[in-house]
Amino acid sequence: MDRFLTADDLEKALRQDVREGLTASPKTLPPKWFYDEHGSALFEEITRLEEYYPTRREREILRARAGEIAAASGAETLLELGAGSGEKTRLLLDALSEAGTLRAYVPVDVSGDFLTAAAGHIAGDYPALAVHAVVADYEQHLHLLPSGSPRLFVFLGGTIGNFLPADRIAFLSGVRAIMEDGDALLLGADLVKDPERLVRAYDDGQGVTAAFNRNVLRVINRRLDADFDPLGFDHVAVWDAHNEWIEMRLRSLADQTVRIRQLDLTVRFAEGEEMRTEISAKFRPDRLRAELGAAGLSLDTLWTDEAGDFSLSLSRPAL
Ligand code: SAH
Ligand code: AVI
Repeated sequence: MDRFLTADDLEKALRQDVREGLTASPKTLPPKWFYDEHGSALFEEITRLEEYYPTRREREILRARAGEIAAASGAETLLELGAGSGEKTRLLLDALSEAGTLRAYVPVDVSGDFLTAAAGHIAGDYPALAVHAVVADYEQHLHLLPSGSPRLFVFLGGTIGNFLPADRIAFLSGVRAIMEDGDALLLGADLVKDPERLVRAYDDGQGVTAAFNRNVLRVINRRLDADFDPLGFDHVAVWDAHNEWIEMRLRSLADQTVRIRQLDLTVRFAEGEEMRTEISAKFRPDRLRAELGAAGLSLDTLWTDEAGDFSLSLSRPAL
């Protein structure tokens, strides 16, 4: 296992993000910090919720198309960014193993303990495969990933929607920059649909998404010795029709003051004040093709599930 992120690096990055985000107006926190081991487990729980369709839809597309994707890519290495549990990826590992080309699986994730456990399960189930887990930040460490085409870069779940637009272009350009001829990118992206269904997917009846959202406060409490009362904030999910994204926020239930001891920072929240914790952008195929194109990638094929809820696309470096 390679670890580009030491506990120290992680803490430094968290400090900087928290100081910047909580002294800004309006306040924000980046979604990266949802994912400690508990946050990753909560995300897995979200993927099983009735209201949260993206994981099921993406799995449906993978079931139908994994053979086609494997044949088109002929990859020796599958490099997965933001891999999480890698559960759906098994469909690709099976298809590429069957095609006889696959040698290595390289899951990359910032959630180190969760990644190590997940990679261990996959290594146990695929003894012929070299599994090489990499604890890294895909916004910073792409250039350190193993080279050697043909590789299939995989970015599933619709996580591409969690970047702000400028960061999304920077990320896609960064992936393009490390791609060689013969490599391909398989990208999962959620599609624009009925806002009511979207909001329900991000505000489920059991409150799992609310717990996931509040988990960022628990992470800050533990890592930066802060005294957030997570239940002093309401979970909010709204559809921004102009930007075509779901925005998750935490709304302060009262006037309150939070002390973040490790930053020597005191932050005041007014009653009703909202802090953005995540965007989850939804796409239209044309916009996806245009954004990939702007990053130097040419979209070959785009598949959707039968209901047209979610998309998977395969792109290659543009000539
Ligand atoms: N691909 C999986 C998991 C999606 S959840 C699926 O489709 O179900 C998003 C994953 O990205 C989490 O595992 C999280 O830890 C990881 N992640 C978020 N920001 C990251 C970053 N900056 N660098 C690396 N991994 C990141
Ligand atoms: C990881 N990512 C694609 C999820 C999403 O749908 O944007 C994270 C999530 N946030 C709330 N529920 C799930």
